[in-house]
Amino acid sequence: MKRLEGKTAIITGASRGIGAAIALKFAEEGAKVVLTARTVEACAETEAACKAAGAETFVQAVNVADTAAIDGCVKSVIERFGRIDVLVNNAGITKDGLLMRMSDEDWDAVVDTNLKGTFAFIRAVSRPMMKNRAEGNLPAGGVIINITSVVGITGNAGQANYTASKGGVIALTKTVAKELGSRQVRCNAIAPGFVVSAMTDKLPEELKKQYAETIPLKRFGVGADIANAAAFLASEEASYITGQVLSVNGGMI
Ligand SMILES: NC(=O)c1ccc[n+]([C@@H]2O[C@H](COP(=O)([O-])OP(=O)(O)OC[C@H]3O[C@@H](n4cnc5c(N)ncnc54)[C@H](O)[C@@H]3O)[C@@H](O)[C@H]2O)c1
Repeated sequence: MKRLEGKTAIITGASRGIGAAIALKFAEEGAKVVLTARTVEACAETEAACKAAGAETFVQAVNVADTAAIDGCVKSVIERFGRIDVLVNNAGITKDGLLMRMSDEDWDAVVDTNLKGTFAFIRAVSRPMMKNRAEGNLPAGGVIINITSVVGITGNAGQANYTASKGGVIALTKTVAKELGSRQVRCNAIAPGFVVSAMTDKLPEELKKQYAETIPLKRFGVGADIANAAAFLASEEASYITGQVLSVNGGMI
């Protein structure tokens, strides 16, 4: 049997990059995938790939910086599928700049999207996940996976807003694991290193080469590297793992 057979999984920021790779992997593993992004149109390509993999799909427009939209999305998913088994908080942005020159707007935009959005989605799914009873092959409770970053662990010059948001996601992950563990809701984080995506495409070619040289495995990761880790954490193979940060970074730290 496929590892996520029959599970309903919400993936934020599923339109491209790591989120799209996670959605496709979950579809291949038998999940019903709820694809969210700021617009429905942006998810068209991911949805087509998930359908081709045989998955049932449901697309919702959700700006994760809008907590009311998040609550509305969770309600619609419950109406459609009756339960939510997995949430992947993947949507994220960068607005880099030196601390001295960083505007309040750039701080707020990054923290509201990366950290507050993650909190609000967890808050919205917590009650439905706690209520989930074991049903067929579906276990009680649920699984939350938060995508943080290697720089949320190490810090990084020029990314005060981003690193603070991602460090916050790690602390939030550990707290949620403690608060919801007794109801069989597991919460873990994945900390990618450098992954090929629109986010890293912004870096100059020369800098990318230099960074790759510093990575023990000598390459950037790809979406599938993160998606494989997410599928493991979402599956029952990880049923005794909670409150952890899984680094997927080619050995960077
Ligand atoms: N690419 C990397 O090297 C890398 C490294 C570490 C962590 N990450 C993290 O992985 C996650 C995915 O990043 P990616 O590399 O695929 O980048 P990406 O820019 O390709 O994708 C980001 C996704 O988030 C969505 N998004 C952004 N703001 C949103 C909002 N307000 N509401 C809803 N959706 C929104 C985008 O539409 C997109 O689907 C992010 O959380 C990022 O911080 C990426």
